[in-house]
Amino acid sequence: MQALLDKETYEKKIKRVIISEEEIKEAIAKAGKYISDGYNGEPILLVSILKGAFVFLADLCRAVSVPCEIGFMCAKSYYSGTNSSGVVQITMDLDQDISKYHVIIVEDIVDTGRTLSDVVKLLKARNPLSLRVVTLLDKPERRVVDFVADYSLFTIPDFFVIGYGLDCGEYYRNLPYIAEYNTEI
Ligand code: IMP
Repeated sequence: MQALLDKETYEKKIKRVIISEEEIKEAIAKAGKYISDGYNGEPILLVSILKGAFVFLADLCRAVSVPCEIGFMCAKSYYSGTNSSGVVQITMDLDQDISKYHVIIVEDIVDTGRTLSDVVKLLKARNPLSLRVVTLLDKPERRVVDFVADYSLFTIPDFFVIGYGLDCGEYYRNLPYIAEYNTEI
């Protein structure tokens, strides 16, 4: 278990808001329409990658106006702080047979691209009707594997971000906006 963060340090580490609640809301309405218009009444399964995408999924699924189901997977690539371990572990798998669905992976951020490239390979091998990836954030400068999401709501530069589901050491997921994390304090 990690040490508790005191309130003052907690607040100081929120450097600046880079994407506001309002901007997120607008972008999600568009992404919801992209999904609602894309499948002609066929079965849709939204697959959220935990933990980072839980807030995004909760808002995105409510912006989808056609029937859809929800599934969860847990893929871990950051074990502490702001450094990627480079190892992707599936710690919780889906319980649906995805061969009957058009699967849409709902991710918080594509950084090195390792997590999604592994998850996509894994899910494609289960023969879904189709597979797309919708990501809230994309950090293309950090890519180490060739990976492009089908739909990305925001492209951001190479800095560590927190909020709206994204954490640093498990904190800040509950911020309603996306902020730059202050790594200098
Ligand atoms: P990737 O495998 O390097 O693309 O990393 C994907 C995962 O790393 C994401 O699902 C996040 O959980 C985490 N991650 C990457 N960049 C950030 C960031 O700036 N803030 C918080 N988590 C991040």
